[in-house]
Amino acid sequence: MQWNRPLAACLLTLMYGCAAYAGATERLARESPAGTTERLATERLATERLATERSATERSATERSATERSAREPPAGAREPPAGAREPPAGSGVSQTQKPDWAAQRQLGRMLFFDPRLSADGSVSCATCHDAQHSYTVGVPVRAGVNGRLGSRHPPSLDDVGARTALFWDGRSPSLEEQALYPIVGATEMANSVQSVAAYVNAQAGYRDLFSRYSRATTLSSADVCAALAAFERTIVSPRSAFDEYYFGHNTLALAPAARRGWSIFSGKGNCIKCHVVSRSNRYFSDSAYHNTGVGVRNDQRDLGRFYSTISVADRGKFRTPSLRNVAARAPYMHDGSLESLAEVVDYYNQGGTPNEELDPVVKPLHLTENELSDVVSFLQSL
Ligand code: HEC
Ligand code: HEC
Repeated sequence: MQWNRPLAACLLTLMYGCAAYAGATERLARESPAGTTERLATERLATERLATERSATERSATERSATERSAREPPAGAREPPAGAREPPAGSGVSQTQKPDWAAQRQLGRMLFFDPRLSADGSVSCATCHDAQHSYTVGVPVRAGVNGRLGSRHPPSLDDVGARTALFWDGRSPSLEEQALYPIVGATEMANSVQSVAAYVNAQAGYRDLFSRYSRATTLSSADVCAALAAFERTIVSPRSAFDEYYFGHNTLALAPAARRGWSIFSGKGNCIKCHVVSRSNRYFSDSAYHNTGVGVRNDQRDLGRFYSTISVADRGKFRTPSLRNVAARAPYMHDGSLESLAEVVDYYNQGGTPNEELDPVVKPLHLTENELSDVVSFLQSL
């Protein structure tokens, strides 16, 4: 293969950047929250590098000629996509002058989401940790990524994820497009590099074909991969629930009496609705804000949550209020998956959370009776 000098240099720079980024992510994973300042600095560095890489990838996508394209293939000995990798069905023939077919982008995103070949050793897909059968999360607190590496947080459900204003339990990512690169390169998730992923995806005729239905570019950049994943993720919406029928559909009989009693506790003396906001204009049971309910200080491995993004002492131990739609379908609960059932969650709030300096004043002992606790659980099961 002929190497185009400037392009090869550019590729090497990218590879170096990626290795450094993977290293940074690994360090992040190893660090305890005590090394916060360092962790923040590393995370900033990683994000900046990510941004540089992405714009470099975008630039080269538009400037590339046919020879340059072949020069971009991974050098001999580099990790090649495994032979015989599953290829999506091909066959379109849609002309470049036609309108972009965005359904093809969503379909591409769906296939990528379920494709384990996006990971370094072909063993982990997005769906490994975001299982469609489990409200797009998993039934264990933490699921291992490539080589059995464990992170420290529970995967959030992706139901209605397109409606969120910030992503991750601490809100550190602003968009689905930006977010998607984290798990692809993250050491505790897919541990891959942007180059390998782009090379693999471009080697699949079916993926290229879907891409050609909505883009004039001839090869996919890593940003295109992330955009397709994001387009698919926006199609994940929670099912219509008994509560929707009751509240939005004005059908009183849609909720059983226990669930109705639970709703009045939830929206009354339980104080739940102060954070899990629901109204005619907000069906997500979340105020999209960050609160300390004490879960982050329950064990020795403290997780300071939002503090890692803002370095504001007041944000220690705060996490984003999660949506409660479809919540019964996704035990265990909380950012660390430490509460096994809805009954445990309600019990936790009834005891007033876990005391700590930043505990939200709204979280305090509720003195609910056994029957009331069980009514709140019935209500949560109706969402
Ligand atoms: C090994 C498990 C694992 C894999 C693989 C994985 N994720 Fe995740 N995902 C997580 C965890 C854990 C979090 C929460 C991390 C945090 O908050 O710090 C998360 C968070 C997210 C979020 C934020 C959701 C929200 O409500 O804030 C999105 C979106 C997401 N992942 C999409 C993806 C996509 C797309 C892929 C594949 C490219 C993927 N994930 C692969 C474990 C995984
Ligand atoms: C001060 C704000 C606040 C109040 C009040 C509150 N919550 Fe929460 N809720 C949160 C936050 C923040 C989380 C995530 C905490 C974490 O993961 O560390 C959460 C998590 C949950 C979860 C887990 C969801 C999941 O997907 O893991 C459930 C269920 C829940 N709350 C129900 C309730 C109920 C029922 C009440 C009332 C008894 C209540 N909440 C009161 C803010 C609040």
